[in-house]
Amino acid sequence: MTSTSSQSPSQDELKTLVGQAALQYVPQGEIIGVGTGSTVNKFIDALAGIKDRIKGAVSSSNASTERLQALGIPVLDCNAVGELAVYIDGADEIDRHGCMIKGGGAALTREKIVAAQSRRFICIADESKLVDALGRFPVPVEVIPMAAQRLVRQFAAMGGKAAIRMKDGQALRTDNGQQILDVSGLRIKDALAFESEVNQWPGVVTVGVFAHQRAAVCLLATQRGVQTLTF
Ligand code: 5RP
Repeated sequence: MTSTSSQSPSQDELKTLVGQAALQYVPQGEIIGVGTGSTVNKFIDALAGIKDRIKGAVSSSNASTERLQALGIPVLDCNAVGELAVYIDGADEIDRHGCMIKGGGAALTREKIVAAQSRRFICIADESKLVDALGRFPVPVEVIPMAAQRLVRQFAAMGGKAAIRMKDGQALRTDNGQQILDVSGLRIKDALAFESEVNQWPGVVTVGVFAHQRAAVCLLATQRGVQTLTF
């Protein structure tokens, strides 16, 4: 664990700390996968300082693409590159096996695609994200709009309460033009089984449980410094 200043860092400072710590996982001369969110934004800012060491990045959202390009980091298409050495992204929750809930930033589908194309998922998070069991954070699910209400009923049948995510008074649209259901009240005992089951419901694009694409490493920013959890 790396120690930080004697004063308690704010959550924003913790994100900066862990974003910088992730630079040690950036391989020389490679293309890396980059996630989405406020923690990843700190990583992208830090990455700008060593951008000449990498060939470029595959991005998981329009927001991250814009930030990477604004800082002069080349963004490549998934289909133009092969397997990526590493994928660096945040999480809404991570358990002690490296399974995560993701999608608070509505980018879960592209995040899962880039994660699947990468050898190792490096999760960067602050300690508030570490949980014993997934499910306190409502599970985001990207859905085809015409299936939304049937899926709301299907989640209700398993004890979940699903709500369509709204933005500016309208259903939020993802980068893929779809909608997000946020599902609360779920008890996820077996993350792999839950992900597999929900993923095959007609109309589900992606469920925001990342168990098949779980993290290999989590850099966890704590009040005592950055801890490294390996799974
Ligand atoms: C975006 C995500 C993010 O990784 C997740 O929401 C964490 O974001 P933040 O670093 O802002 O807390 O899954 O879809």
